[in-house]
Amino acid sequence: MSEQRYSTVAVALHWAIALLILGQIAGGLYMHNLPNSAAAKFDLYQLHKSFGLSIFALTLVRLGWRLVHKPPPLPNTMPGWQVLTARATHWVFYFLMLATPLVGLAIVSVSPKDIPTEWFGLIGVPHLGFLDPGADPAATEHQFIELHEKLSYAILGLLALHVAAAMKHGFINRDGVLRSMAPGIAAISGAAGVFIALAIGIAAYFGGKPGPIEIVRTPEISASVATEEVPQATAPIDTEEPVEEILSGDPAPAPDGTENVDVATNEAPATPRLTANTLCDGDKKLPINWRIDNAASRLRFIGSQNGQSFEGVFGAFKTEIAFDDQFLDQSWLRVTVQTSSAATGDQLIDSTLPGGEWFGVKEFPTATFTACDIQRTGDGHYEAAGTLAIKDAAHDITLPFELVVNDGVTTATGGVDLIRTNFDLGTAPSWLDDEGVALEARIEFSVNASRLN
Ligand code: HEM
Repeated sequence: MSEQRYSTVAVALHWAIALLILGQIAGGLYMHNLPNSAAAKFDLYQLHKSFGLSIFALTLVRLGWRLVHKPPPLPNTMPGWQVLTARATHWVFYFLMLATPLVGLAIVSVSPKDIPTEWFGLIGVPHLGFLDPGADPAATEHQFIELHEKLSYAILGLLALHVAAAMKHGFINRDGVLRSMAPGIAAISGAAGVFIALAIGIAAYFGGKPGPIEIVRTPEISASVATEEVPQATAPIDTEEPVEEILSGDPAPAPDGTENVDVATNEAPATPRLTANTLCDGDKKLPINWRIDNAASRLRFIGSQNGQSFEGVFGAFKTEIAFDDQFLDQSWLRVTVQTSSAATGDQLIDSTLPGGEWFGVKEFPTATFTACDIQRTGDGHYEAAGTLAIKDAAHDITLPFELVVNDGVTTATGGVDLIRTNFDLGTAPSWLDDEGVALEARIEFSVNASRLN
């Protein structure tokens, strides 16, 4: 009589999932113990989430298959308690293979880090919104991490029992049970298909990320950031158009050229009507006297995560400049940035930035820099002292910039280093660790403008 075997699909799924689980546990322990400064840590976490979700999906398929395809019967020679133990072990396995990834998803759902989950950067996976992170989300996250770890160890324990039983069937009882799950060519090909699909997933994840960038800092551009808290600029803005309307415009490419973001129309009104009287103390009579060339202007931010630099652009910002070298005491400028236009080209970072931990775009749609004190520091070099207001925080900063005139077009370039937490960016305990996302960030701009009068 021919031996009864598990179906090819069941065998392929069994071995694919078994290998994935072993890799997942080893990878999980490895990444958990990496220092936060390790460059690969962030990516390993994202891949761990993607592999774990794949295990969850494959387990559902396997369970579905199992429910409609009866497994081969166990040998009659097996004592009742062994049959019962075997059956129980298999169902507990199914439970753990579903519960462990679900608890993993629970970790990231309550985490104060608020990092979205994307299957290999391709498909967004919703978090478990019904979970309440409670008053102390970090503590709730920790509880789920502990549970996740315990479930993983339970899988390992059960695996040991399972392998021991299989060996006994194969080498002591020699009753055909081990052979019923032995992989044939077809099952090996099926399992290989699963791994090829996952390898494509890994390639898609890294392919979707912008490459490493090199930060070129202009040596003469150093910046100073005042640390004391100053009241946020609340003066009414003497302009007819609401900021949202001024800011919308044509799409411009993100740094890696993959995504489009809104770009600022960034142009001063033809008839200047905004004066700084309402923005700056004293007698700032100069009206806006520069027209900004949007397409040629850029506002970018530079940060680093796990030791790797990333940069992004604010695609929508409005620059208002009232500046005359002869009348510096009356000169002023203001930049209004639409926070939702921040884009790095890295899908994961871009979907994290609008959240409450970072720009909180729903509550704080704009950030502003208003400078009422512009001084000349050298030939073509200036400093604009003013207030940078992001979210609830406002600080005095001094922004050095350089003006270069070429064919009637003036280019202003400059930059400033900031401590992100001073501006309430990433202040949850888990983000405060400088080894993850560096506390220091930089903003740089290059604005092309021509004089209106
Ligand atoms: C069968 C599937 C999975 C297995 C066997 C597994 C296993 C593990 C293991 C062994 C660790 C290290 C635990 C520790 O040392 O604390 C870990 C950590 C982690 N897992 Fe999973 N995991 C699975 C699925 C998932 C999924 C689907 C997600 C999320 C969508 C996830 C999220 C995490 C996170 C965030 C951590 C790190 C916790 C921390 O150290 O901060 N896991 N996992």
